[in-house]
This record gives sequence, structure tokens and C-alpha cells, in this order.
Amino acid sequence: MVTPPPAPAQPVRPEPPFEIFLSGTPGLEDVLAAEAQALGFADAVAVPGGVTLQGGWPDVWRLNLWCRGATRVLVRLAEFRVLHLAQLDKRARRVDWAAVLGRGRAVSVETTCRKSKVYHAGAATQRIETAMREALGPVESDAAPLQIRARIDDDLCTLSLDSSGEPLHRRGTKLAVGKAPMRETLASMFLDQCGHGKDEPVYDPMCGSGTFVIEAAERALGLAPGRGRDFAFETLPEFDAEAWSGMLAEGRKARPCALRFVGSDRDPGAVQMAGGNGERAGVGDVVTILQRAVSEARPPEGLPGLVMVNPPYGERIGNKKLLFGLYGALGETLKTHFSGWRVGLVTTDTGLARATGLPWLPPGPPVPHGGLKIRLFRTDPLP
Ligand SMILES: C[S@@+](CC[C@H](N)C(=O)[O-])C[C@H]1O[C@@H](n2cnc3c(N)ncnc32)[C@H](O)[C@@H]1O
Repeated sequence: MVTPPPAPAQPVRPEPPFEIFLSGTPGLEDVLAAEAQALGFADAVAVPGGVTLQGGWPDVWRLNLWCRGATRVLVRLAEFRVLHLAQLDKRARRVDWAAVLGRGRAVSVETTCRKSKVYHAGAATQRIETAMREALGPVESDAAPLQIRARIDDDLCTLSLDSSGEPLHRRGTKLAVGKAPMRETLASMFLDQCGHGKDEPVYDPMCGSGTFVIEAAERALGLAPGRGRDFAFETLPEFDAEAWSGMLAEGRKARPCALRFVGSDRDPGAVQMAGGNGERAGVGDVVTILQRAVSEARPPEGLPGLVMVNPPYGERIGNKKLLFGLYGALGETLKTHFSGWRVGLVTTDTGLARATGLPWLPPGPPVPHGGLKIRLFRTDPLP
């Protein structure tokens, strides 16, 4: 009897609950996992480079809308062992690309290979692109490309779809940035690490484009960080525009807030920029931006809260030797006028943090940011 050839495997698509990966900032995975858990994802687990959890498409939309610390939200499409390119070719074809992405879509692939027999990322990318192109048919040239991330690690290939598009620190409201802006995702995680609740004021005496005060104000007002931007998932076949508009309406609803979030900077350009960014973010009513040198910084009236600041770093702007005086002046001002306030300071250099003379708790881990390693220094309430 002749054995019939095996039937071709059915193409697969992710069935909920599938794995969702929040890509994050190395060193801050635990902070991101805690945020995801607070958003209701009890199974969120920190892994190197991010957080994994299980969910369906509405969870993907909700995480993109509400998660403040993640860089991107990825959807795991497939995972398989791969020992050579022909195998990659075959297995990449098993994904039901048309069902997940929709036909006629432009797609780009980014591949990394590590400790694997398939070591040529360019060749691997080409195989995956070919598999997709065959399934998706002719591509609309003006469609923004969706991105697939292929990771081949120890001969295990994972294929993921980037559901975010632009990275999530692009909140969509900040048009103006200064010389060394803090990324919004990092700013929010540093606020978390300082135990910033929804019910305390924040003051940044070197506010630049206003990132810390705007993030803190949005958190207090209960505004979703993704409420003013587009996402890649909005173009996918599984997208439900009606359900999304309900989520978005929730994310745009500000709750009453009697607190003030104050930023100051000596540079008039920065003051104008931070004010404009706050207005565009819709938090202008609770944010005040003042032109002041750091030695003139004074707390707003009311209960003490959190001073959150990233002064200039020597490696990037200005001369480090001159900065010791600036950090000293910051410390002096805070010790003299900010009794009862906690301080969070982000810098590249432990020596500069020490120059403030503030009573630092053990510092946070080094975190990559713009080619540098930065660290969070925190105090308890100042005496
Ligand atoms: C690294 S930037 C802050 C970036 C800001 N966190 C953001 O996200 O855009 C440092 C800021 O300190 C301000 N600055 C420098 N020396 C100052 C001083 N003596 N008094 C007040 N602000 C000062 C600069 O104008 C600059 O905007």
C-alpha cells in the first residue's frame, strides 16, 4: 500500500490567550512587571528586556493605550526550532500571515541571531520576507509597513508582530524637545520607583521640555499615555474600531485633581517649550512652568511631595567640572527650602549625585539611555 504524502500543515494564527511581550528598558523590568500587574495582568512576569503575559487582542490594545513604561507591545506569532535556512523558509510559511496582517500589507522584518546555526540575520530576514510576500500578495505602496521581529536565539526562532508602530515613548503630544529630553517611558518608571502616587505634587527645578511634570500630571489625572496617537494594530484585520473608541474615551477622561505640578528652568526657550507641551497634552490646568535658576526654586504651597529632576550630564551637555557647582547649588536649595519633600535625581555620575550633599538611599541599577548609562538616586523625606 502506498502511504499518501502528509497533508500540508494548516497555517497557524495566534489564538487567545497568546503571549504578549512588553519590551522594556534593561534594568527596569521589575518596575514594568509591577505596572502591568497594577493594570490587571496578574500573570505579568519580568524577563530580560521586558515582561511577558498572556492575553487577547483587546488586551494588546489596552496595554498600548495604558502602559506607561513599555517601549513596545509585541504579539508572539510563532516559536520553532531552526537549524538551517531551508527550515526557516518552511516554518515561516506555516504562519497564517494573511489572517494576522491582512492581504496587500507592506511589512518589514528585523532579525537578530545569537548563538545559532542560522547566524546571518540578512539571509534569515529575506526568507521570512519571502514567506510573507507569498501569503500577502501585492503590496499597497502607501501603507505604513508593519514590523515583524524575528529573534533566533540558541536555534530557537520566535516571530513577533510589533502592535505599537512608533515606540510608546512617543505619546503624540510632545512636539518640542530640548537638548537631552528624558524619554517619557523612563520618566514614568522613575516616578514609579520613587513611589509617586496619584495624590502628591511633583516639582522639577530643571524641567527642560517638561517630561517629568507632564507625566506626573497625566498619572494624577488618570489620562492614558496613548490617548493622542495612532498604533499599528489599528490597521490589522482583528481590530474592532467600536471597542477601541470606547477604550479611548475612557483614556481621555480626566478625573478631578487639586494638585499642582511645577517645572522651572533657567532657559526661557525651555520654559516656553514645556508650557506648550503641557497644553498639547491637555494638562495645562494643573501644570505651572516658571523661568527660574535652580537656586531660586521654591516649593509650591500645600503639602510636600516629590522633587524629580535630571540635571545636565557632563558627557552630553556642558563641561562636567562646571557641573559640580550646579549639583551643589541644587542640593543646597533642596536642603534649605524643601523640607518634607522626597527627591529623585537621574544622572550618569555618582560623583555628581554626591556633590548635592543629599542623603541618598542605595542607587538604582544603571539604565541605558541615549548611549549613556543613567541611574536613579532617591532620598526619604528631607529633614
Ligand atoms: C538634561 S536637561 C532636562 C531634561 C528634561 N528632564 C526633559 O525631559 O526635557 C537639563 C535642564 O537643566 C536646565 N538647567 C541647566 N542649568 C540650570 C540652572 N542653573 N538653573 C535652572 N535650570 C538649569 C537646562 O536648561 C536643561 O533644560
